[in-house]
Amino acid sequence: MESFTKTVYGEMPDGTPVHQFVLTNKNGMQLKAIEYGGIITHLTAPDKQNNFIDVVLGHDSLEEYLQSDFYFGALIGRYGNRIANAAFELDGTTYELAANNGPNNLHGGPDGFDSAVWNGERAESEDGVALILSYTSKDGEMGFPGTLSVEVIYNLTNDNALEILYRATSDKKTVVNLTQHSYFNLAGKGDILDHYLEINAEQFLAVDEFSIPVDDCFTEVEGTPFNFTMPKRVGADIETEDEQLSLASGYDHTFVIPQDESGLAFVASVFEADSGRIMKVFSSEPGVQFYSGNFIEEGTSGKEGHTYGKHSGLCLETQHYPDSPNRPDFPSVVLEAGNEYRSVTVYEFGAIEGI
Ligand code: BGC
Repeated sequence: MESFTKTVYGEMPDGTPVHQFVLTNKNGMQLKAIEYGGIITHLTAPDKQNNFIDVVLGHDSLEEYLQSDFYFGALIGRYGNRIANAAFELDGTTYELAANNGPNNLHGGPDGFDSAVWNGERAESEDGVALILSYTSKDGEMGFPGTLSVEVIYNLTNDNALEILYRATSDKKTVVNLTQHSYFNLAGKGDILDHYLEINAEQFLAVDEFSIPVDDCFTEVEGTPFNFTMPKRVGADIETEDEQLSLASGYDHTFVIPQDESGLAFVASVFEADSGRIMKVFSSEPGVQFYSGNFIEEGTSGKEGHTYGKHSGLCLETQHYPDSPNRPDFPSVVLEAGNEYRSVTVYEFGAIEGI
């Protein structure tokens, strides 16, 4: 039976209540999300025996999320990923942002959308159960121009997919790059080095020591540890001596996804052999940041007694390329006043015997 519930999850330090929503589809698959950061706190997925377990990393309480540095499950904006030297120019005006990752701006700054309190409500869904989260980012917030009205819909379908629709409009020309920062672990425990990963990308973007794409960044994956064109264990090449891997302490790179006429291209699939769980990702975005959880601190206390560390989960953040506001050679992230920003990503879950 489909269901949707709303309860109080906690209170912000200023007393603002934060609600939690539990969405359950016809098969019993569940998504739990909170208004703080739009965080997906739980997402269950079936194995070969149709056992549903939680496949995302997270914490047990709002207090822990408020202190956490890893963006577990959060919505990311106004600009997901990095902007070099924490500044960009638009129509002759330079916008200064906060440098919160070395000299760069990461994930919209220290008070990005991941730490905003969104407003959640049940949304209509043609297939499944849906939550709409809304947030208005003020003109000048975190240094970005324009009042941006953002809506994100999490739709849990009855064929076990999580569809995410992002929409935004601004009253001034601005830049936007929204994404979701869930860390997946399809075994629900241990690390993700034995997960098989396929990424639909012939190229990735090479970066400098601050994870900013270098000038001539488009790099063929063939013959490198970045070749995931066929399913490969995440850990297979992660220890290879490779400049790009050592710069990021593992995988933390944007892969170039070919655009699809349908508007929704195949991005990646992740398979965990013991459980048979498989997750397929589709998106309208031209890139995906594959992050192998390199910077999760050892001993981080997670949900229900779990302790996390390096590689406990992996992220597949669909998005435009890092530093696009400073890169006229990249697909544009500019949103004109009055136009609508729209982005769709689907995480589809199932179970198979093998690949
Ligand atoms: C970035 C990583 C960063 C992580 C923070 C990812 O999107 O690419 O470099 O450490 O977010 O959790």
